[in-house]
This record gives sequence, C-alpha cells and structure tokens, in this order.
Amino acid sequence: MNFGKDAAFAAVTEVPFNGHPPLEALAQAHLTPIDLFFVRNHGDVPLLNPATHGLSIEGLVEHPRSLNLHDLAALEPVEITAALQCAGNRRDELLAVAPIPGELPWTAAAISNAVWGGVRLRDVLMHCGPLADAAHVAFTGLDSVSREGQTFGFGGSIPLAKALDPDTLLVTHMNGEPLSPVHGGPLRVVVPGYLGARSVKWLSTITVLAEPSTNYFQQKAYRMLPDGAMLGENAPNSVICWPSKDSQHPAGTLSVLGYALSGGDPIERVEVSADDGRTWQPAQFLDEPASRWAWRLWSVTVEVRPGEQQLIARAFDAAGRTQPRDTGPLWNLKGYANNAWHRVHVKIQD
Ligand code: MTE
Repeated sequence: MNFGKDAAFAAVTEVPFNGHPPLEALAQAHLTPIDLFFVRNHGDVPLLNPATHGLSIEGLVEHPRSLNLHDLAALEPVEITAALQCAGNRRDELLAVAPIPGELPWTAAAISNAVWGGVRLRDVLMHCGPLADAAHVAFTGLDSVSREGQTFGFGGSIPLAKALDPDTLLVTHMNGEPLSPVHGGPLRVVVPGYLGARSVKWLSTITVLAEPSTNYFQQKAYRMLPDGAMLGENAPNSVICWPSKDSQHPAGTLSVLGYALSGGDPIERVEVSADDGRTWQPAQFLDEPASRWAWRLWSVTVEVRPGEQQLIARAFDAAGRTQPRDTGPLWNLKGYANNAWHRVHVKIQD
C-alpha cells in the first residue's frame, strides 16, 4: 500500500509506512504536493471515520469535554503555512560519523511544507478552562505502537504557552484537501516550529498536565541524551536540494537551490560557499514568507572550476543564530537534530 503517494516518493520502510520525496523535488514547490509530502509513522495507519471521530479534552481543566468534528467546525477557521521537519532529518550525515542502531537513515528530505487548515488549539483549551497548575498539554493518537513490551498510541506534549500560541492548530485540512489517513486524518495537531513528533496524528485525546507527557515518545525518544532535555523548537537549518550529491556539471556557473527554516526567529539570510567556507555568496529567497513558520526556498548561482568541488550552505535567523560548521560534534545516540553546514560534493568537468 502506498497511501496515494507519487511514483517518485521513496519508501524508507513499508511497515510501518515511512518515506520521503526526492530531495530535488522539495525545492520545486513552496507547498509540497500531498502525494510527495514526507511520512513518518511509528505504527499502523488507522482508518478512522470522520463522521464518528471524537476528541476528548481532560486533565487539569475546569470543564472536561468531548467534541466531534462538527463541534470543531463551529470554531473560527484558521490556515497557517508551516514546514514540518522530523527530528531525524539529515540523520544519514550523522551515520557517516558513527553507527546509530535502531533508527531510520533519513536523508535531508524528512521535511515538507504545507498549508494547514483547522482551528486554534487555544480556542478549544480556553473553552475548557485550564486550571492554575496546568503547565503542559499532551496529545495521544489512535495508532498502535509497540515499545518495551507495551502497545499504546503515539503521544507527546508541549508547554502550555506553546499550546496557547494562536498558530498551534488542530488540523483537518492540508493544502486545501481533507487530511488524508497517512497524514493523521481526520484530525491531527500541528505545532509549527517544533520537531515533527509533537504534531500528533489521529488525535483522540488532549490531556492538560502539570508535567510533560509520560508517553514513551516524550520521555524516552526525542531527547539528545537519555536524561537530557526533551527536544522542542527547531534550530536554524538549510539544505542544498539541487545539485544532487556526486552529480556532474560543466565548468562555469552552477545554480544551487535549497530550503531553510527555523523554529525560533525567522530565517533572515542563506549563504553558499564553493571554496570550503572561505567566501560566501548570499542566496536569493524564491518565495515571500507565507507565515513565520513556512520554510524559505532559495537559489544562488556560483562559479565552479573543473575538478572535485564541495558546495556548502548555511542559514542565519533574525537573532543571528546560525548552523554549526561540523557534523561530528553533533552526533548523538538517536541521531536527532543535525543542522550542521550542509555539504554537497559535485564533479565539475573541463
Ligand atoms: N503521530 C502519531 N499518532 N504517530 C506517529 O508515528 N509521528 C510523528 C508525528 N506524529 C507520529 C505522529 C513524527 S516523528 C513526525 S516527524 C510527524 O508526525 C510526521 O508527520 P507526517 O507523516 O504527516 O509527515
């Protein structure tokens, strides 16, 4: 089963279904077509009936509630363009440093950009009245994931302040279409700017808590160290989508295309070097930011001389934060959050 994906979509695993578009395709459209949008699943893809799907809001709220999609549709509709990036994006470069057992070898294509339609999580939470000790909002999906001898729904949580951000959404539509089953239909969370894992699919339960979720995917996975900080906001990142790794090109000028994003301050500048970081050329952005959470596609033309050549990209956000130079020091046990300078080797002919 390919869940309606394009023939060019590359499956990473069939069961559970995981895959990504060709990296070059990402730089070709500001909104990633649904049939190319990357997929990250930890278990089955539940096929749910939108007519009967229910959402319960419980925990530290004055008025726990059960809502259906009709109830949600009565709230103010909102659309936000936001990139979704898996914490494992660019793990293949970390794998070149040292093995990372048990994790998928994602390339730099575990990311996509879409316009998400739904309602504000804030509107639903305010309707339920978070109590004074509420500090985190947990989400649980209806899929079945098995870990450490237990089977449960994928879940995670975000701080209450992020949940009350007007851009954090309960999503029923993607690029104007009803949300498809493989992307969490009929209902998912989209937490713009955070690692993709917090955008829980097949959402059935929202629990308001004093502490972060106890779900495996909050407590054990998605930490850089077993007892280290839980991952949250995406750091600045930029990637060269074109030319492809090890491709051949004539000497002269070469167009370089890519994406950049940040979960904090917006991306302000992208630079490319064709001389191992001695000099940098600023890239031009190809799109107006649809929102501060959308990715920026960029392009730049560089001079290339015959021989082996490395192209390097790096981005800066509006606060001056940038990407670290090397992948080595970023290596971690689970292979998360690689945002080192992105390097692509190409061969230039005489
Ligand atoms: N939600 C559920 N219920 N189950 C999952 O396996 N994967 C998470 C998140 N939400 C997941 C989930 C991860 S790790 C990512 S990166 C995103 O969904 C991927 O969303 P997508 O498949 O729509 O691209």
